[in-house]
Amino acid sequence: MKALTFERKVVLTLLVAVLVPLLVSAYLVWNLVDESLTVGLNPRIRGQLEASLDVYKELFRTQKQLFGALGTRIAADPALEAALEAGNFAHAAQIFGELARPHPEILRSEVVEGAKRTDLWKSGREADAGARLFPGEYDTAAGPGKRLSVTFQAPDAPFAQMKGAQETLEVYRHVSDVKLRIAKLMAVAYLIVFGGVTIVVLFLGITHTRRFLRPLRELAGATERARKGDLNFRIEPRSKDEVGELTESFNRMIRELRENRGRIIYLEKISSWQEIARRLAHEIKNPLTPINLAMQEIHAKYRGGDEAYRKLLDQSREIIDEEIASLKRMVDAFSSFARLPAISPETTELDPFIDDFLSAHNHFKTEADVSFAGGAAGAKVKMDRVMFRRVLDNLVRNAIEAAGASRAAIGISTTRGDGYVALTVSDGGPGIPADLLDKVFNPYFTTKKDGTGLGLPIARKIVIDHGGELSAENAPTGGARFVIILPSLLSPSA
Ligand SMILES: Nc1ncnc2c1ncn2[C@@H]1O[C@H](COP(=O)(O)OP(=O)(O)O)[C@@H](O)[C@H]1O
Ligand SMILES: [Mg+2]
Repeated sequence: MKALTFERKVVLTLLVAVLVPLLVSAYLVWNLVDESLTVGLNPRIRGQLEASLDVYKELFRTQKQLFGALGTRIAADPALEAALEAGNFAHAAQIFGELARPHPEILRSEVVEGAKRTDLWKSGREADAGARLFPGEYDTAAGPGKRLSVTFQAPDAPFAQMKGAQETLEVYRHVSDVKLRIAKLMAVAYLIVFGGVTIVVLFLGITHTRRFLRPLRELAGATERARKGDLNFRIEPRSKDEVGELTESFNRMIRELRENRGRIIYLEKISSWQEIARRLAHEIKNPLTPINLAMQEIHAKYRGGDEAYRKLLDQSREIIDEEIASLKRMVDAFSSFARLPAISPETTELDPFIDDFLSAHNHFKTEADVSFAGGAAGAKVKMDRVMFRRVLDNLVRNAIEAAGASRAAIGISTTRGDGYVALTVSDGGPGIPADLLDKVFNPYFTTKKDGTGLGLPIARKIVIDHGGELSAENAPTGGARFVIILPSLLSPSA
């Protein structure tokens, strides 16, 4: 629900982000186009063109009227009529010439009888170059079907101009049409581009938002899962961006929680085993003294001469002494496990501490080849040195025991990491069988004939008490490897 609101917000933001510039640009482009098209289509120019065209038309009409009136008047001349009626065309031509003399615009005349045309008069002037001819036929009273054709000429310039104006007007009208079509086309094109862009942007926005929200939803679900106590999972980061980083740090947090919970559970387990060890030590230790005393009595008080019985007594005494010594060792181990003191840590530089430990335990040298590679120079930790010597002692002892009859090769090394130091104890022994790896830290787990199975639990408890962790693994080169991680103190070189 929340995510949906977020998605809607993103879509809305995108819409605004796309629509505002698009609408503004649409408005600007529209105005620009309108402006540029209108420059050529000034309506005043168009009105003037139309008006001048009217003037030309008027001129043409009056010209025609004028010529018509003149033609009609000449055709109605009684002398001309008489000459035509008499068929005396020469005379008629003479009369026509008289009548036409004041009118240089008259070019020629013919007599029209049905389809027959007879030349009557010619002005002798050729038609002016570029002149426009106005032919007209006029009724005469000279007999049926006899008509007079008169051809006038007028300068063509005004009419040519008229034609020009007309054409211009045509073009104008056409351009107006085109303008409308261009406008429509642009509107459609704009709609397509604009709609397309909007759809693409929205699509990208929504898919990106979804892709961005999916890991967040996953994280929210995972948080809920962790809150309910399930810490045994990790989320696969989908990207290498901030969300991916967030996922990684969430995974880290879950892992730390899981490890911390594991440590707490382990310490609780150890604590209950300590209680059992305390009682066991108590119960075993108490009868040991009476048993021992009783055996001493029996052994000392026999005065008989039975040599065989004497031998049996000696043997029994030896066995019981041995077993009691072994039980005492066990009781000591149980007691020391049961009474592990609380740690009192002090700031300690790690590498010199290990050097000191090795020179103090010189006897290791007689049993094993121990090498130390200090790689955490200057790194300091909070450490209970007495307890930590015990940790190292347990690990080195185990490595020596693992080697069996052969001489153990033990490597101790330190490295520093981001906020922690690592101390590794590895050996060249047989290593730990894979199915036992998660059992070796269980109290009383041992594969040795007279082992107590308490060395590693004690070591791990001490390390956990230091805020660290002790883990076991097999080195790829063979042999077991125990790694101690301790939180490091900030040092100048860190
Ligand atoms: N360095 C090692 N190599 C192989 N196995 C080991 C090593 N250290 C410990 N183990 C295994 O872990 C078991 C438990 O060790 P530990 O707790 O010290 O008890 P113990 O030494 O008394 O057996 C051992 O019995 C052994 O099987
Ligand atoms: Mg041991």
